[in-house]
Amino acid sequence: MCGIIGYVGHRKVVPLLLDGLRRLEYRGYDSAGVTVIRDGELVTVRAEGKLDRLVERLAGEPVDGSHGLGHTRWATHGPPLERNAHPMVDARSRLALIHNGIIENFLPLKRRLIAEGWEFSSDTDTEVVANLVSSYLDEEGDLRGAVARATRELEGLFAFALVSISGEREIVAYRQGPPLVLGIGERETFLASDPAALLTYTKDVVFLENGDLARLTEDGLEIQDASGEAVERESHRLLWDPIQAEKGGYKHFMLKEIHEQPQAIQDTFGGRVDFETGEVGFDYFSLDPEEAGAIREVHLLACGTSLHAGLVGKFLIEELARLPVQVDYGSEYRYRDPIVNEGTLAIGVSQSGETADTLSAMEAAKERGARLLAVCNVLGSQATRIAEGVVYTHAGPEIGVASTKAFTTQLVALYLVALYLRQQRGLPIGPEIVADLAHLPGAVDEALQQEGAIEEMARKYHLEEDFLYLGRGINYPIALEGALKLKEISYIHAEGYPAGEMKHGPIALIDQQLPVVNIATGDKVFEKMLGNMQEVKARDGAVIAVTDRDPSELEEIADEVLRVPRLSDHLQPIVNVVPLQLLAYFVGVRRGADVDQPRNLAKSVTVE
Ligand code: AGP
Repeated sequence: MCGIIGYVGHRKVVPLLLDGLRRLEYRGYDSAGVTVIRDGELVTVRAEGKLDRLVERLAGEPVDGSHGLGHTRWATHGPPLERNAHPMVDARSRLALIHNGIIENFLPLKRRLIAEGWEFSSDTDTEVVANLVSSYLDEEGDLRGAVARATRELEGLFAFALVSISGEREIVAYRQGPPLVLGIGERETFLASDPAALLTYTKDVVFLENGDLARLTEDGLEIQDASGEAVERESHRLLWDPIQAEKGGYKHFMLKEIHEQPQAIQDTFGGRVDFETGEVGFDYFSLDPEEAGAIREVHLLACGTSLHAGLVGKFLIEELARLPVQVDYGSEYRYRDPIVNEGTLAIGVSQSGETADTLSAMEAAKERGARLLAVCNVLGSQATRIAEGVVYTHAGPEIGVASTKAFTTQLVALYLVALYLRQQRGLPIGPEIVADLAHLPGAVDEALQQEGAIEEMARKYHLEEDFLYLGRGINYPIALEGALKLKEISYIHAEGYPAGEMKHGPIALIDQQLPVVNIATGDKVFEKMLGNMQEVKARDGAVIAVTDRDPSELEEIADEVLRVPRLSDHLQPIVNVVPLQLLAYFVGVRRGADVDQPRNLAKSVTVE
């Protein structure tokens, strides 16, 4: 939702804060700001709009100091104006605060503070926290004490960090929900919402738990847990390198990440499959045969693109592990009263591991007695901490807001989970089931070779205002995903539909203005898909086909053919989505959309 960065140490503070914010801008880009402590004073510079506006502002009025905070915002309370930008300074100019999340009870607190004489200059819930902490500074005697006291009155999910003019070279931070990661260097410490912002400076990080209050100084970290007890949190060594978090010569992170898929897929199944025997194993997830035998059903819980991965996962687990699967949006599951018991295996699927709706659904399943597994891409994220087991996707940092390599690696991870459940439930396994996995990176790489043809297609269709995506069976979720990619990147209205449903309504939409993308691979339903394409053609719709067949089989029907290599039915969706990702990307670019940071979106939606 928002990007948070903080630093205490010997380096020049502002350049480091801006560098960190650049890497966090995908988390929100309505406004940005920094505060440094210079000669015992708060110096705060903020700007509306993208980070570049702040950089320009700072170029005109250079500042630096001994330590400080930076923030890039995705507005929740108050329009994205400078007065609502973070860092927020309290009314007595004694401290500055940056915040990610939502304070649900900010209004009664604001009224109380106003009655006590505190003035406000913004519409935000954040400023309430700044004044609340400041109101306790004198009584508590130090910043950490004042923060501890204030947090006891706050409701909601939030993470924040503060600096003050107390004379101490310190940052105080608190986490209750959205992520906070602390970096440890040589006589310097760092704070960020995402480890990718720290990669250039340190790979040694600590993830705060919910309820943790931390104090960062040049000498290191002091952390106390929700009960106020001093604790040591486990240190992790990040495996990512800074280059991975850069664009690597691509115009956008999204295109880079689309092209990283062969490697990311390889990294996700590597070391987990014995291609001789077909056996599968994980580092952080295991069920013995008895536990696996006790599972009666699987609940897949996710949002957005990850939900589409869950819909593919349903086919994989039902067909390979012979377990019934239900798939649910996190935002829906948490508010219905799902039937869950100890025979339920709930699997939260999340790239960030911080999506509030998915986390709440996972908690809801766990409270009702389900076993809980997370399929996640971010080390140490909240989803990985509340689950008893984790199957990490090894996609590396995904910076583009549109999820691409995270999606295909989620499909690989769910395929491995399905095979593992099959194996542990005593169903027959063997090398033939996993054989195609070895060909998958190459098949995805082959699909990427269509880039030129797809860029050409984008030129032809980029002015259309509506698209329809059709698929059947395991390709229906890919139709949904292709539509989501297009709409979130290019702002074109796009819908995914089960192709068999066309005659029950959507066929009324077909006319010469409506391009229809048809995913027609494999043998099971190819003829049916052919029928759908003929229906579209007969009504002058533009027929775009994604197929593993020879294009000559479709030349009478399809206006465009995007060829993909053929794999087993279970792995085919992973290849089929690649041309759809490229189509969304090039249409978005041609329409001049901000592909890596689409309007109104954020990479990780850590609030409801
Ligand atoms: C997909 O391109 C979007 N970025 C969005 O739908 C995303 O998949 C969704 O918000 C879930 O995020 P998560 O995987 O981090 O939980």
